[in-house]
Amino acid sequence: MNATDFIVARHDLQQCRFIKTRLPDPSALAEGALLVKVARFAFTANNITYATLGDQLKYWQLFPAPEGFGNVPVWGFGEVVVSSHPAVAPGERLFGYFPMSSHLVIDATDVTKRGLRDAAPHRQGVAPVYNAYARVTGNKDFEGLDGDHQALLRPLFMLSFLVDDFLREHQFFGARRVILSSASSKTAFGLAHLLHSSTEPIHVIGLTSAGNAEFVRSLGYYHETVLYDDVESLPKDVTVAFVDMAGNSGLRVRLHHHFRDAMKYSGQIGLTHRSFSPDEPELPGARPAWFFAPDQIRKRAKEWGPGGIDQRFGAAWSAFAPELPQRLTVIESRGPAAVKQVYQDTLRGRIPPAQGHILSIEP
Ligand SMILES: NC(=O)c1ccc[n+]([C@@H]2O[C@H](COP(=O)([O-])OP(=O)(O)OC[C@H]3O[C@@H](n4cnc5c(N)ncnc54)[C@H](OP(=O)(O)O)[C@@H]3O)[C@@H](O)[C@H]2O)c1
Repeated sequence: MNATDFIVARHDLQQCRFIKTRLPDPSALAEGALLVKVARFAFTANNITYATLGDQLKYWQLFPAPEGFGNVPVWGFGEVVVSSHPAVAPGERLFGYFPMSSHLVIDATDVTKRGLRDAAPHRQGVAPVYNAYARVTGNKDFEGLDGDHQALLRPLFMLSFLVDDFLREHQFFGARRVILSSASSKTAFGLAHLLHSSTEPIHVIGLTSAGNAEFVRSLGYYHETVLYDDVESLPKDVTVAFVDMAGNSGLRVRLHHHFRDAMKYSGQIGLTHRSFSPDEPELPGARPAWFFAPDQIRKRAKEWGPGGIDQRFGAAWSAFAPELPQRLTVIESRGPAAVKQVYQDTLRGRIPPAQGHILSIEP
């Protein structure tokens, strides 16, 4: 039996194709191994960022591909087809990090009622979140919530939740306004939702492109929507914290020169625009720094104790999730041609922000 894998050239993401790879004989699966069908997965700009940072952040190591190519990691649901682990039954559903493939073999370990981990040696060099799977069947975290919206938003909303927590913990670094770039992105509008529902009087500004401005306004999470071309129209003497999803060096330079000392925080989160220059000049105002989610997770896990993050995140997600069907239209596409099309459209920034794409390689 073969798996179908979608692979991309690591240093030229435009180049992509499908290949067949051999799956182990189901009757000869190693002890503890699971043969999992990758049933459906979400695809957003975040996945393109995984590919862009594949070498630096070791994402390419997770799902091996032929020399020079990589398999882009995605968040989604799998279904166990064959199990050689005594505690996991065929038919079980798992939620986690998968390759863009029809199948994955997981070396199941640390199996609990709620989840398991892939112990494959090549997956151990990354943060634990990237090799953990939630057992969906019978898991109350997944009950009553639409699976597609979970796959599309839940992993991104964790980042929104952590940045919101981080900004509050630091009293917004003394800023009165928070500016988010790529305001139309799911990660940004999740954060805007959290900031907007704050009892603290923080003003939330969304920066976006002309084509996405109407969507950003329609969300109702931003107090103000400003086009990239118009950032110099913002009052320069009101203190700001900048949370950057776009990773656009030119934009950052303009913002720092506009706000100067009124720029109290400048956090880098994403690279949606893929126009990041490694040689950015020294900038006035707060020093730009990458926000590293695992650091905030480690800190809060220690301070809040076992289950503390899950409980708070669960409450925040429960307040956000019911709003999603009004904000995002889920578009499901199956088969190799559709997967390639959505990949290429996402790479070129051609997906309207009100769409959420759910894919499956199997037709
Ligand atoms: N550090 C972390 O742990 C972490 C976690 C989650 C997400 N993130 C990052 O946050 C960013 C947003 O991810 P997402 O999945 O939420 O994005 P998304 O919903 O797919 O965002 C789509 C938006 O990004 C902008 N965009 C996308 N592709 C573009 C292109 N080729 N050219 C120009 N603009 C483009 C457009 O927004 P505008 O027109 O509004 O600019 C577009 O509406 C990603 O870079 C992701 O990696 C980081």
